[in-house]
Amino acid sequence: MANIIVIANQKGGVGKTTTSINLAAALGEVGKKTLLIDLDSQGNASSACGLNQDEISPTIYDLLMGEAQAKECIKKSKEDDFDIIPSNRDLMAAEIQLLELDNRELILKQALENVTHLYDFIIIDSPPSMNILTLNALSFAKNLIIPVQCEYYALEGMTGMLESIYQIKDSINPDLDFMGVVRTMYDSRNSLAIEVSAQLKKYFDDKLFWTFIPRNVRLAEAPSHGMSALKYDPNCSGSKAYLSLAKEVAKKTMES
Ligand SMILES: Nc1ncnc2c1ncn2[C@@H]1O[C@H](COP(=O)(O)OP(=O)(O)O)[C@@H](O)[C@H]1O
Ligand SMILES: [Mg+2]
Repeated sequence: MANIIVIANQKGGVGKTTTSINLAAALGEVGKKTLLIDLDSQGNASSACGLNQDEISPTIYDLLMGEAQAKECIKKSKEDDFDIIPSNRDLMAAEIQLLELDNRELILKQALENVTHLYDFIIIDSPPSMNILTLNALSFAKNLIIPVQCEYYALEGMTGMLESIYQIKDSINPDLDFMGVVRTMYDSRNSLAIEVSAQLKKYFDDKLFWTFIPRNVRLAEAPSHGMSALKYDPNCSGSKAYLSLAKEVAKKTMES
């Protein structure tokens, strides 16, 4: 059965999408069958897989609305070794339409039920808010990874988010576990980053991934070439960091 991991943080621009793609690519590269689910209407993860947002159909929207089967929505990433269920602007409408349904937080889980056994890992890239889509992801997932940028206000909103996670665990999804926090865009020459990193270590302890993701321009360039950084430049510091993160994730998966 797949380990289902949601990458979430209510803040935008913290590296959720970059982590989702490169973690999926790294897991794919070490031979794990991996599915990436783009659950953000901005469709950044889909474009980064070389898919044209205006041409893709059916998408995660059609799946959530019951207008397509999971298998029809699964596409191959153009250059990398993982599958993706893409998204585009259509998904914005789902946020409202889902609210009208019974069991609205379980729609994603039910829609993917007959494909989860096909994968070792399912990675979900989520939107920058705690909306009904994020709630669907957290109701389906087994693990949560929170990417955090080491800057002022990094911890802001995290307490609220962790509280919601534990509420979801207590009610809808007892299987949900908090896997850890990953530091992104880390600049080891920046004293503030070092300070915030130390705070994270103190606060999260063994829930802080040992691997940190450095600030690396290759990670920012790769999406415009329709591929992960691991394909675009396997030797860059960002690619090596995501491979290391994937190893940590795989290890934690085996231990749990
Ligand atoms: N480690 C990194 N080094 C350099 N740029 C990064 C890094 N991680 C993300 N970025 C860039 O920062 C921006 C925000 O990242 P993104 O992954 O889209 O965040 P989110 O999905 O949380 O909004 C993007 O332009 C991305 O390319
Ligand atoms: Mg994103």
